[in-house]
Amino acid sequence: MRYTGAPDSLVYDERPVVTDRTDGRVADTRATESGVAIASGRALKAWILPSGNDFIADPAARHVRPPGNPGGDFLYVRPDFDDRRWSLVDLPHDWAIGGPFYTTPDAVVGGGMGRLPVNGVAWYRRKLVVPASARGRRLYLDIDGAMSYAMVWLNGHLVGGWPYGYNSFRLDLTPYVRPGGDNQLAIRIDNPANSSRWYPGGGLYRHVWLVTLAPVHVAQWGTFVRTRRVNASSAVVDLSVQVDNASAVSKRVRVVTEVFASGRPVAVFSPGLLTLGAGEKGSLVRSVTIRKPLLWGPPPAQQPYLYEAVTRVIVDGAEVDTYRTRFGIRSVTFDPVRGVLVNGVPIRIQGVNQHADLGALGMAFNFRAAERQLDLLREMGCNAIRLAHNPPAPELLDLTDRMGFLVIDEIFDCWYKGKTPLDFHLIFGDWHEPDLRAFIRRDRNHPSVIEWSFGNEVGEQYTGEEGAAVARELHDIVRSEDSTRPATASMNYAKPDMPFPGVMDVLSLNYQGEGIRDAPAYARLRGIKTAPLYFSFRRQFPFKMIQSSETASTLSTRGTFIFPVDSGISAPVSDSTGGDASFKYVSAYDLYTAAFGASPDKVFAAQDRHPFVAGEFVWSGWDYLGEPTPYYSARSSYSGIIDLAGFKKDRFYLYQSRWRPDLAMAHILPHWTWPSRVGLVTPVHVYTSGDEAELFLNGRSLGRRKKGAFEYRLRWDSVIYEPGVLRVVAYKNGKPWATDTVRTAGAPARLQLIADRSSTRDLSFITVRVLDSNGVLVPQASCDIHFEVSGPGEIVATDNGNPADMVAFPSPERAAFSGLALVIVRGRKGKIVVTAKASGLVSASVTVEVTDGPADVHASPHMLRRSDRSPEYQNPR
Ligand code: GAL
Repeated sequence: MRYTGAPDSLVYDERPVVTDRTDGRVADTRATESGVAIASGRALKAWILPSGNDFIADPAARHVRPPGNPGGDFLYVRPDFDDRRWSLVDLPHDWAIGGPFYTTPDAVVGGGMGRLPVNGVAWYRRKLVVPASARGRRLYLDIDGAMSYAMVWLNGHLVGGWPYGYNSFRLDLTPYVRPGGDNQLAIRIDNPANSSRWYPGGGLYRHVWLVTLAPVHVAQWGTFVRTRRVNASSAVVDLSVQVDNASAVSKRVRVVTEVFASGRPVAVFSPGLLTLGAGEKGSLVRSVTIRKPLLWGPPPAQQPYLYEAVTRVIVDGAEVDTYRTRFGIRSVTFDPVRGVLVNGVPIRIQGVNQHADLGALGMAFNFRAAERQLDLLREMGCNAIRLAHNPPAPELLDLTDRMGFLVIDEIFDCWYKGKTPLDFHLIFGDWHEPDLRAFIRRDRNHPSVIEWSFGNEVGEQYTGEEGAAVARELHDIVRSEDSTRPATASMNYAKPDMPFPGVMDVLSLNYQGEGIRDAPAYARLRGIKTAPLYFSFRRQFPFKMIQSSETASTLSTRGTFIFPVDSGISAPVSDSTGGDASFKYVSAYDLYTAAFGASPDKVFAAQDRHPFVAGEFVWSGWDYLGEPTPYYSARSSYSGIIDLAGFKKDRFYLYQSRWRPDLAMAHILPHWTWPSRVGLVTPVHVYTSGDEAELFLNGRSLGRRKKGAFEYRLRWDSVIYEPGVLRVVAYKNGKPWATDTVRTAGAPARLQLIADRSSTRDLSFITVRVLDSNGVLVPQASCDIHFEVSGPGEIVATDNGNPADMVAFPSPERAAFSGLALVIVRGRKGKIVVTAKASGLVSASVTVEVTDGPADVHASPHMLRRSDRSPEYQNPR
């Protein structure tokens, strides 16, 4: 059979015909069997599978490359193909983020995947100039992530590839490289629609490295540091080093590793000797004791100190390779009663789930954008991140190491049973072992990673012993790679008496702890129904730590309040309760949730009633692209505590009040500009780290309220709206503690611009606020704003955090939403001036200084040429 629609008639493997394109299925819908594959043809799978061989334990199960060079005759891989008409792009590059959004109901990419043009096939090409001095050396291509089904040719030869778009991988270019001349690299990326429950991005969206090494070198991800007997006076550091002799002769290799703290040597491992035959790899393990170690631990109580091990490989007296491993010294204990202990100190998990996109910047990794996400989470008091549901960019873990977050590093959202027709389940059989081992080897030295998760809400929860057997296989692979961290998979369905949870080292519950669809407001809903299960899990597994790996799924559109307001503490959103289908808004009273979710208040109460639970990971920290439950004609989620543009929703302060109890704070919601509500009931809620508060409207007290047991917000539900000033005075232990004030705004009069930093090395995130003539934020302002940049800079994207705004992100025109908008600007060295204008309003400008130097730790931009995106491969019907 022939492939139609593909530009090159190449494909990784046959794919099932997609018959079910239902968008907006509730996230806890049961996973399904794969469809029937009907096409076959020029499938390159047999040539790609060997790229995973280093990560398959059983030598007999490794793949042998068949003869032949498929694709070698295709135009785009040939050195003489003229690609000058292709666009020139910088890496990391996400081909889809610029849009436009697909807005029709039958769009090939629906709301689930973010309505952006991720689907299709594209090629990237670059000429590599390899110096003659590289002769006799090994050349590797390290790709940190390519979305998806990457296949690589060098000088017309198929080198290999890696299907899973979230993993990092290395290909050996040496057999095909021509030192002393131009070498043509060509990379094919194929990203099917209907392959993800969220926005995956498309293309070479992370860094790509050309690595030149001596034939004898530390293997890829070849070091593994573990620490034990950690205390204030000493710690033992165990280090394994794997060395690769890729030469054609046997070598005697000396391996020396020294440990540095802030650049100063603090310890040396005793040297090791290895004799490695041609093409052989060998490992050695050494231990050293470090006196008075500076421990890695989460702030504010602890500090995230980092060490560096520098390994030197010496052959015939010459140093041939140097390899640096950053690590931390810490102990982590998972206690069924006390939860997570870091260096012996209990740390309650105050966590969030994060998807990998960077909002309007898409999936193209950017260090500063990722740091900005973590900065805001930190300000809220968050100390832990679950990386839902796939390995992150490597730099993200550098950031969590440096900032001291605790991380659940997670790899799969599905196993054999798929959640979307073309997701990872299609290749799970072939790739789960190489993907899982590669994932762990890459990330195992990060002190921030405390647990491995090998699955999220997988369909195998439903299949009894059979599903548990798959779980056991994955669990055992994880433990064979790293026995120092617990391995887990998140459960939204598996119950204590089922075989699935028995496999897990720690129990990760999604929504089940506080109960799913169990409160009266949820009674009429169909789907999984579960009474609160913390105690049942506790009884069945008294020796396993329990954590909530997903909670809440509370939904809201920032700054948007819908009346009347539910009088309970948690309700499922619907068009008549908390939702407005015509504008695709969800009310920001923080009471409305996904069908299976629970408000923050309900979750807090469940956690406090079960103090043995180690804590929670809220779904989700930031809004993300795709999965716009409940309005799938929109483009981004409603579940974030922070919106897609990085603006705080009200519940930011609800979490802050709980997670930073010593921070004196109070926050009033809603805003107080309701011209059409004069005389109408307009409930006022207050979040505070105090325990009591008095509310005043235009100077009149509306009463003093105290939080009762298991209450987390103060409510004045019968306030009659009148314009003016609403002020709250919060108390703690009877003493004044914090205040907050909101004022009725007048008509929009001017714009205000605030840059996240006055000087930057690449990106600047600039907030626009629409103000009235007294400088009060106009909370419902939605005026059109036009942005301009002068000086050495350009607008990369604009946003306003409204999930239903379908204006493409690169647009320099953006409507304010609930009074705010964001412009993201990229600068080169010098001063740039950013100006915002809106008709009838006083415009505003801000100056940002762009300093010299690398934008992040990995600064070198790689310029590649990219072909047009062609429609993805479709099976003939
Ligand atoms: C969970 C799922 C997440 C996300 C979330 C949405 O069931 O694990 O990936 O879909 O629901 O609220």
